[in-house]
Amino acid sequence: MQNVDWNQRYIESNTPWDSGVPSEELKQVIASGLIKPCRVFEIGCGTGTNAIFLAKSGFEVTACDLSDVAIEKAKSKAEDSGASIAFIQADIATLEYDGAPFPFVFDRGTYHIVRKGNLVGFQNTLKRLVEPGGCYLVLAGNANDDAPEGCGPPRMTAAELCTELEFDAFDLVSLEVGHFHGVKIGGELLTPLAWKGVFRRRTSPR
Ligand SMILES: C[S@@+](CC[C@H](N)C(=O)[O-])C[C@H]1O[C@@H](n2cnc3c(N)ncnc32)[C@H](O)[C@@H]1O
Repeated sequence: MQNVDWNQRYIESNTPWDSGVPSEELKQVIASGLIKPCRVFEIGCGTGTNAIFLAKSGFEVTACDLSDVAIEKAKSKAEDSGASIAFIQADIATLEYDGAPFPFVFDRGTYHIVRKGNLVGFQNTLKRLVEPGGCYLVLAGNANDDAPEGCGPPRMTAAELCTELEFDAFDLVSLEVGHFHGVKIGGELLTPLAWKGVFRRRTSPR
């Protein structure tokens, strides 16, 4: 997925990941009480479905995407739904965020893309975004998927995910196997295998 023209993908609606329904995994962590309404940052918000869900669930949402076309679509959807969201168009790997860190950061399908181009930049941003004790919920492609590679999301092993996301700043809280729901490729509804990882920002360096 490197060198993807994200704006073009959104202009052509070539966006199989864009399910239009909030992530089940996100709904679960909220229903479980692990994450309560708070300030949240969404990495790679796309057309804003999950950002809107979070805002409607009582969260104060900031949502970022590289694609200004996606951001415009997300803004329009948020306006139509009456959700108040702060949108940022930026590359997450070079975002110079110097505001207050967030108790919760959510990411459905962006880390597994950005890691291939600028993992260190992504880690630096993540470290700045999540407050000590705060949580990062990430959904990423799973290398154990039996389906032929190439048509779904980028895949990675559990070891890669844990090493890259713990680095010197986070502890793994839980890692589960799940699925990306609502993914439509070639007219077919697929459920690519996914990792659902919850990481907690360390309160002291490793
Ligand atoms: C697979 S899509 C997922 C979008 C959204 N999370 C969803 O579930 O519908 C990946 C998203 O990451 C965005 N993206 C890609 N590279 C990025 C970067 N370096 N910084 C911020 N967003 C990026 C793309 O524009 C796209 O919206």
